[in-house]
Amino acid sequence: MKWFMKNKAIFVIIISCLCMAMQSQISGTFAEKAKEEPEPYYVGMEKCKECHPGDVKTYSEWKYSRNFRILEMRGKEHDPQCVPCHTTGYGKPGGFVSVEETPHMKNVQCEACHGPASLHVKAPTIEEHQRTLSIPRNVCTTCHHQHEHVGY
Ligand code: HEC
Ligand code: HEC
Ligand code: HEC
Ligand code: HEC
Repeated sequence: MKWFMKNKAIFVIIISCLCMAMQSQISGTFAEKAKEEPEPYYVGMEKCKECHPGDVKTYSEWKYSRNFRILEMRGKEHDPQCVPCHTTGYGKPGGFVSVEETPHMKNVQCEACHGPASLHVKAPTIEEHQRTLSIPRNVCTTCHHQHEHVGY
């Protein structure tokens, strides 16, 4: 029973986090305010280290965080059919262009899920920090949608 209660608590926390993320996505004030600001662009994971060293370290240690190497191993690092999902911000302002031009945007980094963070890194207050990022709805399925992976 104790085990269940403990795990249930963690489960509830995760669910409420996800709900809050969705609310901030659809709330009018967020959408309106975002319009007044310049479009955020991608900045890369190095920039997150300064304020979130723990998250960066934990994530970098996860073997799947180095997923660009599986393209390099197959000589596919320039293949436009492969790079969109194995890099960060492909084709978007500040995002991955090519191995030569934007080596720091290889791999699925923080901003692949949290969105472009240029406004976030410059935010003056904690509230602004929280307001400037929200995980887009269905972000996972933008890459995780193919059952038959084209790489096979
Ligand atoms: C100058 C410091 C700073 C930098 C650089 C920074 N952050 Fe943050 N971040 C904060 C602060 C302050 C908060 C709000 C306090 C908190 O929730 O821990 C925050 C909160 C967050 C949150 C939670 C947002 C929410 O809805 O509560 C995420 C996700 C996040 N940061 C991601 C990133 C990513 C990704 C990067 C790199 C691209 C980054 N941060 C760079 C300071 C920073
Ligand atoms: C639509 C997004 C998308 C595209 C496009 C894409 N990948 Fe992937 N790839 C993923 C995701 C998501 C995973 C991890 C989950 C999975 O295996 O389906 C992955 C995993 C892989 C893996 C590891 C599979 C394993 O056995 O762990 C390889 C290898 C790979 N991709 C190669 C490629 C190659 C080569 C291309 C280009 C021909 C490519 N991918 C294009 C999204 C994509
Ligand atoms: C595969 C997608 C994904 C990647 C990559 C990712 N995150 Fe997250 N992150 C999430 C999700 C999902 C949540 C929980 C939902 C929420 O709180 O909005 C979260 C929550 C957070 C939070 C708030 C909760 C906490 O732990 O304090 C911070 C801060 C954060 N991430 C920072 C980062 C940083 C920094 C990186 C890169 C090193 C990163 N994330 C990479 C998906 C991701
Ligand atoms: C930009 C594309 C992209 C986005 C967005 C993305 N992923 Fe991934 N993800 C990948 C790729 C590519 C891999 C393959 C890593 C490897 O095989 O080395 C992967 C691997 C994974 C893995 C480990 C392999 C597996 O199949 O179990 C998990 C778990 C995962 N992603 C969860 C998530 C979740 C949850 C989200 C949303 C919050 C998300 N991803 C968003 C591209 C993405």
